Amino acid sequence: MARLDDKIALITGAANGIGAAAARLFVAEGAKVALVDRDAEALAGIAAALGDRVHGIAVDVSDSAAMKAAVEDAVARLGGLDIAVLNAGIEGDVAPIEDYSEENFDRVIAVNMRGVWLGLKHVMPVLKAGRGGSIVITSSIGGIRGRQGMCAYVASKHAVVGLMRTAALEGAPDGIRVNTVHPSPVETRMMRSLEAMMNPDDPEKVRQAQLRTSPQGRYAEPEEVAHLMLFLASDESRHCSGSEYMIDGARNAR
Ligand code: NAI
Repeated sequence: MARLDDKIALITGAANGIGAAAARLFVAEGAKVALVDRDAEALAGIAAALGDRVHGIAVDVSDSAAMKAAVEDAVARLGGLDIAVLNAGIEGDVAPIEDYSEENFDRVIAVNMRGVWLGLKHVMPVLKAGRGGSIVITSSIGGIRGRQGMCAYVASKHAVVGLMRTAALEGAPDGIRVNTVHPSPVETRMMRSLEAMMNPDDPEKVRQAQLRTSPQGRYAEPEEVAHLMLFLASDESRHCSGSEYMIDGARNAR
């Protein structure tokens, strides 16, 4: 018996990086998966690769009507919903607070915070009407620590911890569990983008500095984060709710 047999999941940010790794793992563990992402081209690619156990839905998670329709589409197409991984996120610009643009701040908050709230808002009633379920939210080390130059990102990743705790309390009577995962740097497009913004002339220098702060001397692989999501999504974690799960190779043990 696979770990997600008979489960139906919705994953946002599923076309690339961590979300795509979770989609591949969840399908391999027996789930049917709705892949939600605004990147229609990449979405079509992963949907085709994963076959008839997945359904791709191209929407922006910060658009309430579109997210509501996406959840309804997933339920209609796949036959229900047991798991949501609210993972879509953007890094925003890198600039000190005084230079950070209002437009950029609002966009990061719209996707990373409002997008997670909208996911909870539209998914929780469906889980409540069904057999309960598990919601996993992708926060970050930036959800427990500050980081110079990333005010909007750090604020948004702290904010989803508050959403997670509230949703865990509100959902508990209906069998809904909610947790956050907090990865340190992961080998995806997002780190390449941050490295380039932090040092346009020599992005590799940023990477090397990051590696020096990692006790394991490396970034995480997206699949490693996906395995933590799998545990939290599955019934193995049925008493886990309302908590933050670090995946940082001992980076914050100091
Ligand atoms: P990525 O950039 O490789 O993938 C993010 C996916 O989300 C993309 O497919 C993108 O199209 C989608 N997306 C972005 N905005 C969207 C929107 N408004 N609506 C729908 N889809 C949208 O990034 P990665 O690394 O896979 O990030 C996934 C999550 O993990 C993010 O929430 C990120 O903040 C978080 N995270 C990433 C870390 C890293 O080092 N890569 C470390 C800690 C957390």
